[in-house]
Amino acid sequence: MALFKDMLSSDESLFRNEQALDFAFQPKPMKYREVQQRHIAECIKPLFQARNGKNLFIYGVPGIGKTLACNQVLGEIEETTDEIVSVYINCWHKNTTFKVYLELCAILGYRLTQNKGGDELFKVIKEILNKKAVVFVFDEVDKAEDFDFLYSILEEVYKKSILLITNYKDWVLNLEERIRSRLMLDQLEFKPYNLKETEGILRQRIEYAFVPDVLEDAAFQLILKKAVELEDIRAGLTMLREAGLSAENRSSRKIIEEDAKKALEKLGESNLQSSNELEDDSKFILGIIKNHSNIKMGDLFKLYQEKGGKTSYRSFFRRVNKLADDKFVSLEKKGGGIEGNITIVKYTTVKKLSEF
Ligand SMILES: Nc1ncnc2c1ncn2[C@@H]1O[C@H](COP(=O)(O)OP(=O)(O)O)[C@@H](O)[C@H]1O
Ligand SMILES: [Mg+2]
Repeated sequence: MALFKDMLSSDESLFRNEQALDFAFQPKPMKYREVQQRHIAECIKPLFQARNGKNLFIYGVPGIGKTLACNQVLGEIEETTDEIVSVYINCWHKNTTFKVYLELCAILGYRLTQNKGGDELFKVIKEILNKKAVVFVFDEVDKAEDFDFLYSILEEVYKKSILLITNYKDWVLNLEERIRSRLMLDQLEFKPYNLKETEGILRQRIEYAFVPDVLEDAAFQLILKKAVELEDIRAGLTMLREAGLSAENRSSRKIIEEDAKKALEKLGESNLQSSNELEDDSKFILGIIKNHSNIKMGDLFKLYQEKGGKTSYRSFFRRVNKLADDKFVSLEKKGGGIEGNITIVKYTTVKKLSEF
């Protein structure tokens, strides 16, 4: 009898390189985004002839390769020329003009930032940058609290392309006119990957991440189906890792359908758990949205205050956006009308959770 044939010994692992399932891992080549990368490259091309570039607005739902596509283009610029500086800043982390300037100084290797104000810092930055051409990527740009940095760059950096990335198509409608009119943005939509593409991407990662042939097809199909349904490669990567860990826990040499099921459940739970871990104020806001789904952002804020909410509009706004990023709610932005631009907030968690 071969009772223990499929048992994993203590020094074995199903993972060949677990890091390949990290979100930050950069698979090469990046498949299925050639059209988008060419569009990005077209905007930047004039910089190679020392002319001004175009600016681009990039949008699409989370987890479909917007960040990766831009970073790989920046990487290629760096490999090709020293005459173009490439700058990547995530506005989730650097969410004010001052923080953006400090980050620019760090990227440019300028250290004497202490006791300097924003204007002083920008003076140094533009002097360095105007010796060359520059590509700026401002990722998750909707998270920035003010946009003076964009205005300054538009006015005072001469040869540049500015790429703005966000999950929200209509974000641009809310941008101040003085900035929007100067940006003259080209638009580039990233659409979710279809079944075949999602499969190709996940298979590429599996090849890097797992020992050959450990993942049974039934397990893979389950994870693939869920990733396509969620339109999110990131969720696919998380499930693959969880399924692998589940199999290892059973000391199994194979990742089977049961392991994939556990991974799906866990993904559902992590949604629930993070709802339990939400800050009290965010939970309070989510509670209001749950009872008043399809509400305008402004009305929601009024309700929030009436019910005893204490934070400023700005913090409130950030919390609602965070809830949207974590997929507890969805935001729909509508432009125009006498009221100007409005955002509708919708409750989504119930639907998400019942899917699992
Ligand atoms: N075409 C692709 N090929 C390989 N990996 C991809 C591809 N598109 C997305 N990914 C992976 O999916 C994850 C999410 O991609 P990311 O660029 O961060 O999404 P977004 O910025 O749209 O939210 C990352 O781990 C990334 O490496
Ligand atoms: Mg991104």
